[in-house]
Amino acid sequence: MKGKFPLDQFSSLCTPFYYYDTGLLQKTLDAIKQQLKGQEQFRVHYAMKANVNPKLLSIIKDNGFGADCVSGGEISAAILAGFSPQEIVFAGVGKADWEIELGLDLNIFCFNVESIAELRVIDEIAQVMGKVARVCLRINPNVKANTHANIATGQAENKFGIALQDLDKVLGVLTELKSIEFIGLHFHIGSQILDMSDFRALCMRINEIMDALESRGIRIPNLNVGGGLGIDYDHPNRQSIPDFEAYFDVYDTHLRLRPYQTLHFELGRSIVGQCGTLISKVLYVKEGVNKEFAILDAGMNDLIRPALYQAAHKIENITSQEALSSYDVVGPVCESSDVFGKSVDLNRVSRGDLIAIRSAGAYGEVMASQYNCRPLANSYFSDEFI
Ligand code: LLP
Repeated sequence: MKGKFPLDQFSSLCTPFYYYDTGLLQKTLDAIKQQLKGQEQFRVHYAMKANVNPKLLSIIKDNGFGADCVSGGEISAAILAGFSPQEIVFAGVGKADWEIELGLDLNIFCFNVESIAELRVIDEIAQVMGKVARVCLRINPNVKANTHANIATGQAENKFGIALQDLDKVLGVLTELKSIEFIGLHFHIGSQILDMSDFRALCMRINEIMDALESRGIRIPNLNVGGGLGIDYDHPNRQSIPDFEAYFDVYDTHLRLRPYQTLHFELGRSIVGQCGTLISKVLYVKEGVNKEFAILDAGMNDLIRPALYQAAHKIENITSQEALSSYDVVGPVCESSDVFGKSVDLNRVSRGDLIAIRSAGAYGEVMASQYNCRPLANSYFSDEFI
């Protein structure tokens, strides 16, 4: 193996493909477990939306994590991977009837509910099925996260969650619903958050809400603070494991958790982000007027983050050792947004060189499409190579 990647073995594989470093995933999970030692009240659910690759799911499940799902499909994938229904939380603004039925049928831990309309439908379905649905209310805490607008979710004008000022009304409705058991509050302020003060602001807001509810004799056994911890896209080698110590410390220090409460987390990107790399081959080096293009055989259909969120993933030529040169790194898809990076310094590129697009483990493979009738990329795992 040369450097981080088993280049000799890569040369026989059909590109593009996702390569997962399962050793790094295990180390990442170990780092979380280390922080959870002695924190009996903390519970981490893996946010399935980040990556549902079955092999990764099975590793995460084997390490004792729960699952955070946002669709019936994700619930089924979690069950298939062996997650216990008792460890499944189910969120999303638009749960279809069949998805609610599936959750009730499996007796999942809870539904994170986002509106009165949804609450009433869950109650009706549960009643017909002779079940009681455990429910957490997703509250929009009106906390701003310093992240890309498309992945910030906690401000007032967002489609997510129940507005804080409507909480009383919803609590009133809850008293009428016979097939709902209200077990907690759920929050999520956004994703790819690196500034711990955003999570601290969430803690402060939750403290205020809890004080107000407690003074009225309302007991909330579960608090779920969602996910959102970011990763270092610029330096995947320098910080391959996110700073979980700082993250959990914020909640430990600033959230006034009651002794009877469980605090749930829904981490996605921070668990799987750094272990995945999109490996692609250079098809052509094209001389533009003022620049050179490295045209890859991977496109926005394989990894849509740069096109959708202007995300910058670190790009490396893992074949060449030649001097650096500047390229616009683009895919073959017929869209001008099919660009992985502009003016990227790469070791001088030739046709056939392998290009690694790093930190692609979260929201990469799972968001892939077959646009332009392109086949879905395969995935390979470091423990399959010697
Ligand atoms: N919980 C809820 C309610 C969420 O909406 C999300 C992510 C998570 C947990 C997990 O967040 P994480 O720990 O992964 O930040 N496709 C975008 C990210 C979308 C995130 C959606 N919600 C991207 O590629 O950046």
